[in-house]
Amino acid sequence: MKMVLLGPPGSGKGTRAHIISDLYHIPVVTTGDMLREAVRDETEYGKIAEGYMNKGDLVPDKIVNGIVRERLGKPDVKDGFILDGFPRSKSQADALDMILDDLGIELTHVLYVVLSDDVIIQRLSKRRSCPKCGAVYHLESAPPKQEGICDVCGAKLIQRDDDKEEVIQHRLEVYRKQTEPLLKRYRDKGIVVETSGEVPMDELRAHLKKLLG
Ligand code: AP5
Repeated sequence: MKMVLLGPPGSGKGTRAHIISDLYHIPVVTTGDMLREAVRDETEYGKIAEGYMNKGDLVPDKIVNGIVRERLGKPDVKDGFILDGFPRSKSQADALDMILDDLGIELTHVLYVVLSDDVIIQRLSKRRSCPKCGAVYHLESAPPKQEGICDVCGAKLIQRDDDKEEVIQHRLEVYRKQTEPLLKRYRDKGIVVETSGEVPMDELRAHLKKLLG
């Protein structure tokens, strides 16, 4: 399975990516997490990316395309991967086609997560994230076992800077303008599988297994 996850910010792409990874034993490649790591490590790219991310804008292609190309060249993605957060624009989709062509890989699925803006805003304002391992929680629907602590690695959970309401609104606008049009491109290829972002958390694993086979 060589999959792209498409959907608005906060629709549950990351949550699904981790379940699918566990079901099919394939790695998740999340551009958002890779960029956040670069920001944390204060790398050259991280310093550039930080301003764009805090405003909810897309980080320049030359940075993002480069990290995706490097990651997809690693041996562990040969038998499958889940791309979460990439591509997000026409130019990134063109770049992905080129990268995959060079590697002799074809996409098999684009999983499109559908969710209304109202629910997205409610979810993101109550999301908590692990800065160390990338695990995602929700204060009501998926709380950690111990308040404020990651179940997976024990790190202290944080609220992302871009999960403030005004930034969420802007991320939604960027998504509608730049990312949503990609759906047509992948629909034309016949590889889009649609799923509702409203499927309850405790049914998600079985739902995805049934949907993806
Ligand atoms: P990124 O980290 O990719 O953020 P995003 O796409 O906006 O998506 P999110 O991580 O916010 O949400 P999600 O859909 O994964 O939802 P989640 O599973 O967490 O990107 C951040 C920034 O990085 C961008 O704005 C940009 O600046 C930059 N960037 C990244 N990629 C880039 C690229 N390719 N090009 C340029 N710039 C790029 O779920 C949300 C919440 O809902 C959680 O609390 C979760 O617990 C809860 N939830 C999930 N599913 C359910 C459910 N079924 N029921 C109840 N609650 C649920």
